[in-house]
Amino acid sequence: VNVTVIGSGSWGTAFARLLSVNGHAVQVVTLTAQEAAELAGTRVNPRFLPGVVLPESVRFVAVADADLDDSEMIAYVVPTQAIREVAAWVATRRSPASLQLSLAKGLELGTLLRPSEVIAAVTGSPAAVLSGPNHAEEVSRDMPSATVIAADDADAARRLQAAITCETFRVYTSRDVLGVEFCGAAKNPIAIAVGIADGLGFGDNTRASLMTRSLAEVTRVGIRLGASVETFAGLAGIGDLVATCTSRHSRNRLAGELLGRGTPAAQVPALVGQVVEGIPTTYALRDLGRRFGVDMPVIDNVFEVLENHRSASDCVGSLMKREAKTEFGG
Ligand SMILES: NC(=O)c1ccc[n+]([C@@H]2O[C@H](COP(=O)([O-])OP(=O)(O)OC[C@H]3O[C@@H](n4cnc5c(N)ncnc54)[C@H](O)[C@@H]3O)[C@@H](O)[C@H]2O)c1
Repeated sequence: VNVTVIGSGSWGTAFARLLSVNGHAVQVVTLTAQEAAELAGTRVNPRFLPGVVLPESVRFVAVADADLDDSEMIAYVVPTQAIREVAAWVATRRSPASLQLSLAKGLELGTLLRPSEVIAAVTGSPAAVLSGPNHAEEVSRDMPSATVIAADDADAARRLQAAITCETFRVYTSRDVLGVEFCGAAKNPIAIAVGIADGLGFGDNTRASLMTRSLAEVTRVGIRLGASVETFAGLAGIGDLVATCTSRHSRNRLAGELLGRGTPAAQVPALVGQVVEGIPTTYALRDLGRRFGVDMPVIDNVFEVLENHRSASDCVGSLMKREAKTEFGG
């Protein structure tokens, strides 16, 4: 299969390597010609994926020079807030038969749309989504993991599954595009909350309690949007939540840890050095909760910390001193 991977960050680089090892012809679209030349020359991506050697067969081309004439699969692996711009670029170049796949995990600010909704609106064609516990650092070292590809068109999902699955990367299919994509977006603000608790010096009980109660609140919103409840118990739901909230690789958890240690919110993105999807998604999720009248105490407190309205330690009291409730439906 001829594949174009748009985005040469951590996940774009790891995903391109995976597809190339699977025998596909892969071109990676970079932002600049200099980046394309460096990646092509050195076969490593020291900024985003240090220590991983990229196969000779992966081609790198700058966005200004790239075409999509032969691309049968187009993978969007850029930050969510760049998806609209990338989709507009794709829209004028793609062949109508090409399959589109979003690997971004977030919600668009303002519109509150999921990446696949933005792609469909801009290109006029649907996009499948891929989401699960898949840190680039581990996938690129062939450590086994599993993931979900969701598409409205079951045949498209099966074709993508066949192209991407391999001995170290096991792909399941799903019809719940909304649920899979929403779970992938929602786990990032939760990872910030967990990171804040880590930064405050709390332990495993706090982490597990926060993960579980956060999952309850985002599940309430997801169900109101139309997600299947079982998706939250799957790889894109609890699977990715566990990976992100307990991982040393997670930049969202790291962002939270910095906040918990008292770093001003404005300094956090630069200190992390890569996209922290959970920050814009906290704002978007909070807006979604308000739209549906769903109480989201953990997300609200992350928002308060990001906005400097409340210190991380004050949030602990704000969450722990809420009125007593029953666990479900209270
Ligand atoms: N890193 C992971 O392990 C991982 C795993 C699963 C999903 N994701 C998701 O994948 C998406 C990308 O994450 P990442 O980790 O690769 O981010 P990153 O910060 O490592 O890299 C982002 C890349 O996107 C490029 N980019 C930004 N705007 C662009 C544009 N307009 N056109 C072309 N390229 C553009 C940047 O140059 C950079 O190379 C995010 O939504 C993230 O949540 C990441």
